[in-house]
Amino acid sequence: MSDLHSITDNSKSFAPITEFAKNANVTPEKYKELCEKANTNYADFWGELAYNNITWNKNFNSVLNESEAPFYKWFEDGELNVSYNCIDRHLNTQPNKVAIIFESDDGVVTTVTYRELYIKVCKFANGLKLLGVKKSDRVVIYMPHSIEAIVAMLSCARIGAIHSVVFGGFSAKSLADRIMDADAKYLVTVNGYMRGGKKFKVKDEVDNAIKLLPSNQLNNVIVQNRIDESCSMQIHRDEWWDDVIKNVSDICTPEFVASEHPLFILYTSGSTGKPKGVQHSSAGYLLGAILTMQWVFDYKTSDIFWCTADIGWITGHTYVCYGPMAVGATQVIFEGVPTYPNASRFWQIIEKHKVSVFYTAPTAIRALIKLGADLPNQSDLSSLRLLGTVGEPINPQAWRWYYETIGKSRCPIVDTWWQTETGCNMLAPLPGVTALKPGSCTFPIPGIFAGIVDENGHNVGLGGSGSLVIKKPFPSQFRTVWGDNERFKSAYFPVEIANSKYYLAGDSAHLDADGYFWVLGRLDDILKVSGHRLDTMEIESALASHPSIAEAAVVGKPHDIKGESVFAFVVCKNGKSPTPDTVESLKTELRNWVGNEIGAIAKPDDIRFGDNLPKTRSGKIMRRLLRNIARGEAITQDISTLENPSSIEQLQRE
Ligand code: PRX
Repeated sequence: MSDLHSITDNSKSFAPITEFAKNANVTPEKYKELCEKANTNYADFWGELAYNNITWNKNFNSVLNESEAPFYKWFEDGELNVSYNCIDRHLNTQPNKVAIIFESDDGVVTTVTYRELYIKVCKFANGLKLLGVKKSDRVVIYMPHSIEAIVAMLSCARIGAIHSVVFGGFSAKSLADRIMDADAKYLVTVNGYMRGGKKFKVKDEVDNAIKLLPSNQLNNVIVQNRIDESCSMQIHRDEWWDDVIKNVSDICTPEFVASEHPLFILYTSGSTGKPKGVQHSSAGYLLGAILTMQWVFDYKTSDIFWCTADIGWITGHTYVCYGPMAVGATQVIFEGVPTYPNASRFWQIIEKHKVSVFYTAPTAIRALIKLGADLPNQSDLSSLRLLGTVGEPINPQAWRWYYETIGKSRCPIVDTWWQTETGCNMLAPLPGVTALKPGSCTFPIPGIFAGIVDENGHNVGLGGSGSLVIKKPFPSQFRTVWGDNERFKSAYFPVEIANSKYYLAGDSAHLDADGYFWVLGRLDDILKVSGHRLDTMEIESALASHPSIAEAAVVGKPHDIKGESVFAFVVCKNGKSPTPDTVESLKTELRNWVGNEIGAIAKPDDIRFGDNLPKTRSGKIMRRLLRNIARGEAITQDISTLENPSSIEQLQRE
């Protein structure tokens, strides 16, 4: 978690940029009007927005049904199709507008218009239907960032199937766990892909995952032939994408579904060691994506929008797949990494495609500063008009560099706070209205009633710090944890906080004297490593499943570029700690083990061995002490009451 002073010290504010504000979608007057409406008539506020922004097949009468709170239902009796809203409704007005500019790892550019996207989606949707995919079936998508991944998602939405995208960096084991939890019968993947100049053989990984599944789990695996690489194809089960779309019609009537129909499940780390399937609705989620494109990203039809997030994360769902498509934007999708072939790649892409709105993560900004703070000056970045960040707090130094070197002090930065669970931006500046403070995500957007409360659910007031909550239900919030309503209730709507009325975000936050929100970090055992959410318990159980390891505890350590890094303390079985000769090889083995169990993003940077972990007499691991050790801080607290005080000294030694 960030130290309050390191992020709030430098709290100079930046008034809205006049040139920008003149043409902003939300002016101060509009903002006032939206807030007043949300305050005085909440249901009308959301009802009107939903009516005006979504194309409905059947209109709704009920805006919000709270009878089974916290299982809220929005626009319940309405019917829509999300892919229709993302594609078909643009076909009359802008069929030839470019929807996607795709740049591959090696710089090859492919563009797809809305009309072409429509045909691709209809064909793949028909192909899925031919294979037997039906409304509500789960389809797992394990693909790199690509046009086809978006086509696969929108095709599922078209036929009412529920997709679950699994980030390509997750291991075979993580993929298998997610397929089983969702009970998916279909998997869409690729033979392989190139990223950062390296080849990834995805189908091999998929085959390893399939070995972990019951033999009848998957009906079909659809494989897109993405690179020139052979792979095994099991007859009757594995089908090439091109064969699936070969003899099908390019018209697919959308399946209109009820507003609450699940659009997708996206697995994310919780703090119990088991990833949870965050289940989103159709209409409420779509509305959040559309409104934030307009309000926060100030979407204009002439924009070239670029969100750098991978499709495997919520940011890729909302601001690559659904948000930009639903408003009819032209967007850039980049397959590669910011540092390949060199650290100018992002800036060159902005110049080449004339990107006007650029949305990325603080970790990427910090890495690029380190690799060449002056490099952006070699590219023409004059097309930019708005910048955004997401995923973790941004430190004021990185913010200023982003503002000055990338935005040339003429582009507002929208620091957007939100979560997989909230579906879209919740706290963020409205760029034509809000004065910015570097490191603060400023205020809740209209209709979002956020607060910072103490452990009893009472407001902390200006200058206070506490737990971030959202006090009223909102349309884009997730509907449940897939298959686990109890976990949904107890983790997010605990009785202790306002008698289950508030949504508990799990973040600690500070409210400054001007009422600005500063999100400091997680209150639970979740880490944010390069903006990716990792559960310490999941890493611990991965480590403890290694044959030589008896016990493990994982904490976060502040990291200049990643924000946080994974620091593991491990105890070997039978007290057999490695010798100086074997320690490095065991560390490498454990890192690879975690890579295989979860994915490369979860590999610990630091591993320290000990005979014991510091525990209280009741057996609870003292993580606070481990955090002190990981950070190299002096231990000031009395440790004499520990079960094993000597463990501390040993773990402090490298
Ligand atoms: O801790 C907060 C942090 O990211 C968490 C949500 O992670 P995830 O579900 O992976 O979604 C990330 C992308 C939406 C939050 O609980 N977080 C997200 N955005 C910010 C942030 N922390 C500070 N400032 C932000 N702008």
